[in-house]
Parts: sequence; structure tokens; C-alpha cells
Amino acid sequence: MHGNPLVLVTGGAGFIGSHTCVELLAHDWDVVVVDDHSNSSPRALERIEAVARRKLRGAYAVDLLDRPALSAVFDAHPVDAVVHFAARKAVGESVRMPAEYYDTNIGATTALLRVMGEHDVRRLVFSSSCSVYGDAARQPVDERAPARPTNPYAQSKHLCETVIADVARRRPGFSALSLRCFNPIGAHPGGLLGEDPRGEPGNLLPYIAQVAVRRRDHVPVFGDDYATPDGTGVRDYTHVLDVAEAHRLALRHVADRPGATVYNIGTGRGTSVLDLIAAFGDASGREIPYRIEGRRPGDVATLVADAHAVRNAWGRHATRGIADMCRDAWTFQQRNPRGYADPTTRPPEPRQPA
Ligand code: WQD
Repeated sequence: MHGNPLVLVTGGAGFIGSHTCVELLAHDWDVVVVDDHSNSSPRALERIEAVARRKLRGAYAVDLLDRPALSAVFDAHPVDAVVHFAARKAVGESVRMPAEYYDTNIGATTALLRVMGEHDVRRLVFSSSCSVYGDAARQPVDERAPARPTNPYAQSKHLCETVIADVARRRPGFSALSLRCFNPIGAHPGGLLGEDPRGEPGNLLPYIAQVAVRRRDHVPVFGDDYATPDGTGVRDYTHVLDVAEAHRLALRHVADRPGATVYNIGTGRGTSVLDLIAAFGDASGREIPYRIEGRRPGDVATLVADAHAVRNAWGRHATRGIADMCRDAWTFQQRNPRGYADPTTRPPEPRQPA
């Protein structure tokens, strides 16, 4: 019998993954990371250990689609549970590269489920996305709303949830929790851990932060003609520390119910693109130039969480506000103007689709 419970975190060097690893290490989990660094820096692993003041049990640069290599990791460690983050996650890119998104996001999940079955690992927390709801008629949206994904990224997340639910129905003793995260942003307040996308940011907050630190000259605002108060997209931004805690709580509760369960993770408050730009300007004291451009294919006008289900189930919910998220993200960006690694040590830029 080994000491602490051991969790394998896929995508553990990524944005939400790295913050979740710190949260797990701080609460007496042992952690093994599997991450191919296609959208993360290996240096995030050093940051995780520095912030948590504990070592990872192991870290493997493995592509989840490589089942023999993944299986060898499970052979090497007595894994009790898995938290699965590894995925491509940019809406705009998914519209441009649908096959790559389905291959990576769904293929990795089925490979992981098969290897978990071969090693009789029966606990899975899956990091899903609010985008599965698409253009939900009623806002805030709760888990009973139908899934109506409007882009390949969102569709891939919804299909992963479906595969996981099908496996949970068939596999005795297997239980899974899928967390539909609503726009995780921010950073660990210490400035060592944050969001460090490769290349041009696909998401809003890191783009704003790079403009604030003068890595980019303006924020492209994708549309100001939506049916929202100021015409720009409204989202429920959630502090990444609240999202990380939710994944830890999901690990604690995943065995409460057999089968597969879905919960929203969000604040219940909506913020527009222009509001977020203004909030980041307040937090950074910097002018944040922006330009109104056309709508981004696959985008919806508004997406705000009804997170009562998880609050009723676990007695916890996201508490941090937009000012906290912007302050912490700015602290990280200021201390890491070019992210974790120098350009010379970054992996090559992703191949552009033909
Ligand atoms: C937010 C708003 C854009 C970039 C997806 C996933 C979600 C999460 C984050 C993983 C929209 C506008 C954006 C820019 C802009 N993924 N925007 N200029 O698409 O809501 O959510 O990514 O954790 O699960 O669904 O996030 O940050 O890309 O966009 O105007 O340069 O900002 O149109 O209204 P999104 P986003």
C-alpha cells in the first residue's frame, strides 16, 4: 500500500492542468503528469514544484494517442485516479482544423479510457467545457440544457463526455465526473504560474495580457453587433484557482455516484469583451488598445453558468471576481513577459493546415 493517493494528470503542464497539479500536491495527492507539450512548456513542471513546494512523482512527455507509451506510465505507477485535461482548446483554430481537433481530443480520450480499463483504474475527472451548450436559449444555463455545440472544439468536448458516459455504463465500478468549465482565466497570485499559450493567443484574456505587456499592439474584438449590452461577447469568466479546486473536489466526490455525472463550474456572472478589457486596464494601469473586427466563426453571444448543482452537491462554488482574475493574470504576465521559456527553447510552431 503506498502513502498518498496517486492521480495521473493529462495535460498537467497546461494552464488549468498546472494550477490543478499545485492544488492536488497541496492537498496530499501524489501526482504524475503526462503532457506532450504541444501547447505547454516543460518549464511549467518546474514552476508547479516551486509553487507547491513538493515534487511530482513523475512527468512523461507522452502523446496520449501513443497507447503503448501511455500504458507504460500506468505500469510504472499505482494510479488511483485520472484527471484528463489534454486537448486542443481554441474555438477559432478548431473551425480551421476540425479533423485535427477530433483526432486529438476524442482519440486521446478513447485511448486513455482503454488504457485505464487495462489497468483497472476506475476514477476519472474530465475537464469539459461550457462551449458544449452552444447558443443556449436560456441564460444562465444549467446542466439540463441540451448540448448544441457550434464549433468542432465544443463538439469534440461533448463527444468525449458521451464516450465517457458510455464506458461508465458498461464498466463495473467505473465512475466519472465531467466538469463544464466556464472560461477559466487568471493565474496563481504568486506570479510563477499562469497562462502561457504558444504563438498567437486563441483566447481573450491572454491576448489582453500580451497587449498590456506590449508584446502585441492591440486586442482584436471579434464583433460588437451581438444582442448583448455593449454588443460584444459575454462570458462567465472563472478564476483558474476556483477551477483547480473544483477538479480536486471532483476527485474527492467522483466515487460518490457510479456512472457519469456532469457539473457546471462557473460564477453565474457575465462579463463582456469590452468590460474585461476595461477591468484589465484597471488592474494593470495600462492602456489596452483594441479594434473592432468581424465576428469569429463558431462564437456565441452569451454563455453564463447556473452552477447551483455543484454548489448543492459539494457546498462549494467559484468565489473570486473579475478584479482578482485580472490582478493575478497581470502579476504573472509582468513577471513573465515572454511566458515560461525563451523563444529559443520553445517547441516549433504548430504546422499550419494545408
Ligand atoms: C471569449 C470572448 C470571443 C479572442 C473557449 C472554450 C472554453 C475555454 C476558453 C478552455 C468571445 C472574444 C476572443 C480575441 C475576442 N477553453 N475574443 N478577441 O471561445 O468563449 O471559450 O475558450 O478552457 O472552454 O469554449 O473563449 O477567450 O476565445 O473568447 O474578441 O482575440 O472573447 O469572441 O466573445 P471562448 P475566448
